[in-house]
Amino acid sequence: MTGPVLREMRWWDIAPVLDLERELFPEDAWSEGMFWSELAHARGPRSTRRYVVAEEPATGAEGGSGGHAARIVGYAGLAAAGGLGDVQTIAVARDHWGTGLGARLLTELLHHATAFECEEVLLEVRVDNTRAQRLYERFGFEPIGFRRGYYQPGNVDALVMRLTVQDTAETPEPPGPADTPEPAPGPPGTASALPGTAPGLPGPSGTTEPTETTETTESAETHG
Ligand SMILES: CC(C)(COP(=O)(O)OP(=O)(O)OC[C@H]1O[C@@H](n2cnc3c(N)ncnc32)[C@H](O)[C@@H]1OP(=O)(O)O)[C@@H](O)C(=O)NCCC(=O)NCCS
Repeated sequence: MTGPVLREMRWWDIAPVLDLERELFPEDAWSEGMFWSELAHARGPRSTRRYVVAEEPATGAEGGSGGHAARIVGYAGLAAAGGLGDVQTIAVARDHWGTGLGARLLTELLHHATAFECEEVLLEVRVDNTRAQRLYERFGFEPIGFRRGYYQPGNVDALVMRLTVQDTAETPEPPGPADTPEPAPGPPGTASALPGTAPGLPGPSGTTEPTETTETTESAETHG
């Protein structure tokens, strides 16, 4: 049996992605409009986003007995501008957890970060989401700060983690077959500040001890 195939997320994937989003982020799910807005920046020479989905291929006769239709079982998104990448979201359907799909999606985002010429990649993760934190740590992300009350309405803090992109050479190989090749993105655009990227984060020479950072509520919380 072949595993899920990674491919670019398109607008027609928003509905199934939203179903997963609401199941996996019940307290702070993104709205449909937020996905539309993100995808609007994902194409063209000045694009600043890359979104991917993991799709389980259809098997057997679609709709007939014994087969099932293609199904989205994961998704992830990266924002990039000015040499800085931000993992906007990453999620895997519960019945695929522990199969290495999270690692495949993150590997794909980091390939895009390299194509965007990002020098570093940041992400936010709930302080109580140790599973996701372990995934990021395996890829070399290090904690650099907290954002107090970042996730609303639950008022849960975010841990901010950072990866310097040369570290990606040391990332673990994702299990499973090679991903579908993606076309190289155009040059990064000149977008304004990334959603969820607060001012005042420590620079590349910052300490590895997490420090408290200033919260901004300019946009949706990122899920990654
Ligand atoms: C966080 C999340 C994306 C991880 O996805 P995942 O597909 O389970 O991730 P992986 O399978 O790559 O890795 C998870 C674990 O499975 C293990 N694993 C990886 N490949 C495996 C394989 N082939 N067989 C068995 N186990 C495997 C890994 O060792 C890892 O365990 P560890 O964390 O104890 O080291 C997923 O749990 C999720 O969607 N959570 C809800 C949404 C969320 O919290 N997103 C992150 C927001 S910041």
